[in-house]
Amino acid sequence: MVSETVLSGMRPSGKLHLGNYFGALVNWLKLQKDFRCYYMAADWHALTSEYADTSNVELNVWDMVTDWLACGLDPKTCVIFRQSWVPQHAELHLLLSMMTPLSWLERVPTYKEQMQEMKTRDLSTYGFLGYPLLQAADILIYKAARVPVGEDQLAHLELTREVARRFNHLYGNVFPEPQALLSKSPKVPGTDGRKMSKSYNNAVLLSDTKAETTANIRTMFTDPKKIKVDDKGHPEGCVVYAMHTLYTPEAKDIEGRCKAGTIGCVACKGRLAETLNAALDPIRAQRALWSSKIRDVKDIVAEGSERAKVVALSTMVDVRAAVQLAGPEKGARR
Ligand code: TRP
Ligand code: SF4
Repeated sequence: MVSETVLSGMRPSGKLHLGNYFGALVNWLKLQKDFRCYYMAADWHALTSEYADTSNVELNVWDMVTDWLACGLDPKTCVIFRQSWVPQHAELHLLLSMMTPLSWLERVPTYKEQMQEMKTRDLSTYGFLGYPLLQAADILIYKAARVPVGEDQLAHLELTREVARRFNHLYGNVFPEPQALLSKSPKVPGTDGRKMSKSYNNAVLLSDTKAETTANIRTMFTDPKKIKVDDKGHPEGCVVYAMHTLYTPEAKDIEGRCKAGTIGCVACKGRLAETLNAALDPIRAQRALWSSKIRDVKDIVAEGSERAKVVALSTMVDVRAAVQLAGPEKGARR
């Protein structure tokens, strides 16, 4: 057990899909063995874009955490918690907001990108601009050394480091600068060939049944020029082939047979249904188990949040001392 702290989080958007699994969870599962890991359901972050209709957030948190547990995140080895249950994140976010130049937030690329992407929502809010600063507070409050994230989050990590430097410069050394842990994860295409995403309706969910998964595979985008079994195909652009490389031991062989025209798409999809369903079966079984005891899931998150809070409170004592705001704790009053 290494003493370094790892923190990561996901916005709760409900049940997880294979993109979430390969993009983040596979990595989280590895890290929990070697580091002191904190994994967070970032429900406040969800509110930055969902504030107008918050009715799904609660269910989404539990759906997401149930999937985490089903995949093997182990509450005995890592701390699984919920952001809004550790309100010290908000206190640190507030203090950091005092010293963070607006221009730093305005120039974070995800700010304008997401505004463009989510045109149906009004994101010209204070909270949305502060999204990456809240993330900085999430990370710094645990003095995390490493933060496993995807490439899209690197700018948020960079901001976190800048904010830590500025805080340390102004008030004294409190925060270590966290390093991004970039995961080399395979790209998982959605059934239509675009990036797998719930909003594109092209996702294979971990919680889908065998029949749903098999039906989903039938709709997958393949080489449009391969119509007859003996047509020579192009596996490069084919979603089914991309999935075979993740799940099927004889993927290389299938590539050759596709190119040679000795396998047809129907049989090829049939084989993927076998290997993908075999891989998902144990996760489905675990998921069924956890969803039958959702109270236990909530208890795990409550306990995890209490454990996280111990660390967060202790950091806030250092932070308040540094900014010369005496805390109410015994001995800290002046
Ligand atoms: N912004 C991250 C995402 O969308 C989620 C997140 C919130 C996070 N707080 C974090 C990730 C802290 C890492 C560390 O994926
Ligand atoms: Fe894709 Fe398989 Fe069809 Fe080739 S045979 S195009 S790999 S589904």
